[in-house]
Amino acid sequence: METYWRSRDPLTHAPAEPVQGDYDVVVVGAGITGLSTAVMLAARGSRVAVLEARHVGAGTTGASTAKVSVLQGRRQSEIATTQSLELLAHYVAGGRAGQDWLLAYCAQHGVAVQRPDAVTYAASPEELAAVEDEQRVCESVGLAVTWRSRTDGPFPFAGGVVLAEQAQLNPLELLTALAADATALGVTVFTDARVTDVDDGPDHLVTTRRGSVRAQRVVLATGIPVADRGGFFARVSPERSYALALRVPDLKQSDMYLSAGAPLRSIRTTPGATGETLLVGGNSHPVGRGGSELAASRALADWALRHYPDGEITHRWSAQDYHPVDALPYVGRLTPSSDRVLIATGFAKWGLTTGVAAAEVLTGLIDAGAPAWADAFASWSSHEVAGTGAAMKQNATVAAALVGDRVSALRSLPDAAPLEGVGCVGRAAGLHPAAVSTVDGVTRTVSATCTHLGGVVHWNDAEETWDCPLHGSRFTPAGVVLEGPATADLSRPD
Ligand SMILES: Cc1cc2nc3c(=O)[nH]c(=O)nc-3n(C[C@H](O)[C@H](O)[C@H](O)COP(=O)(O)OP(=O)(O)OC[C@H]3O[C@@H](n4cnc5c(N)ncnc54)[C@H](O)[C@@H]3O)c2cc1C
Ligand code: FES
Repeated sequence: METYWRSRDPLTHAPAEPVQGDYDVVVVGAGITGLSTAVMLAARGSRVAVLEARHVGAGTTGASTAKVSVLQGRRQSEIATTQSLELLAHYVAGGRAGQDWLLAYCAQHGVAVQRPDAVTYAASPEELAAVEDEQRVCESVGLAVTWRSRTDGPFPFAGGVVLAEQAQLNPLELLTALAADATALGVTVFTDARVTDVDDGPDHLVTTRRGSVRAQRVVLATGIPVADRGGFFARVSPERSYALALRVPDLKQSDMYLSAGAPLRSIRTTPGATGETLLVGGNSHPVGRGGSELAASRALADWALRHYPDGEITHRWSAQDYHPVDALPYVGRLTPSSDRVLIATGFAKWGLTTGVAAAEVLTGLIDAGAPAWADAFASWSSHEVAGTGAAMKQNATVAAALVGDRVSALRSLPDAAPLEGVGCVGRAAGLHPAAVSTVDGVTRTVSATCTHLGGVVHWNDAEETWDCPLHGSRFTPAGVVLEGPATADLSRPD
């Protein structure tokens, strides 16, 4: 499943060879967080390298719908249910700072940006109370929101809260500009360089599959942290969601919409050579749980074609992001005792603003002093303690999934190879569960045990990948790790 952006702007970034050197800061991950951090630090004179497992934009940023908005669905009212108004105001200030930096950056570097209004809307009268609540909370932290009773779109709309002149862009165009700028500022961007270990001891080594670098400070901007000695995998929930692009004749709407109720519907347009294209997102669920991914993608397509019957779907894709258990993101030290390794995670599908805010916090922690609003982004703080109950609930669900999947894995694998596009998990000859799939006519068997912490993988029938229901690691049919906290491939079964 190819994203609309990649089909428009295929990225080419030659791997810098070999992976070696001595740096002030090594940033792991070339998404919005990693690249904006690298650019900010290099502009202040640090010697910086970026280590990217695949290529620039391979992660969530390159598959995002790329709304750059401070109105974020119902996020502000959700944060307000567990956090103080002061922390919420600081989160909003961080979002504004991230948005301001990005808009100025795009203006300076020729990255196209549109400035539509952002709308959080009720699809039915039953959802109005939640949207009104969002409006109240936004007003209480000084956001100049207004109310809209009608929409220019053809989907069900009972009313919505509006923040005028937010922004949207093409995320690959942005990442390409950031990578080029980073290189011009002296940053070495190593691609095809998956980090497998980060030494927090005296050697200061960051190890990849094709060499090591030495670093005084390390920033893990990998979506969910790898080499996670801080246990952040238990404090975020990985959620996969779906997107599609539609060619719609005479498309008139232009604003960015996000529904308040479930299933969420995210709607925006994007200009192209042949007019506006409609982008629709939604149907998220925990990675590796929630049934057939293909069914989720088809349900989103059905919804889009029901409301845009003249539309023609040109692209379908999916991606994942990490939701913090206590609503606020985690940016800062990986462990409370050391400031050598820093992380940024838990953006809850708002990383276009929050990832840049995180970069400002990280740059501040390394070099310039943290911004006044940084406490809303702290990786270890009282706001994280406030989320302990939610964390325990999340971990219990995760543990139940582990047990359930292991039990179902006890069944024997069928004798016949799976049909094309099908994967199944079961017991083969050895003791451990095996995962067997057929893709492009090739049947492959790999271990079904995730190399992170032993979850039993689930077949993703939309992406044709093995996805771990515990913390969201994903692997190709051949077992090669794609994303998530795992850094090793699935092994051959016993
Ligand atoms: C469908 C969808 C739509 C979204 N839409 C929006 C939106 O409209 N607006 C918004 O603000 N946010 C949106 N988001 C969220 C946003 O895209 C993310 O929060 C953001 O892109 C995260 O950026 P990142 O740089 O932290 O991570 P990523 O972009 O995932 O970058 C992490 C990078 O780290 C690399 N990496 C991983 N492991 C290793 C390793 N071991 N070694 C080296 N490199 C590694 C990956 O390959 C990847 O390139 C959306 C998310 C989804 C899923
Ligand atoms: S991602 Fe943690 S066990 Fe698989």
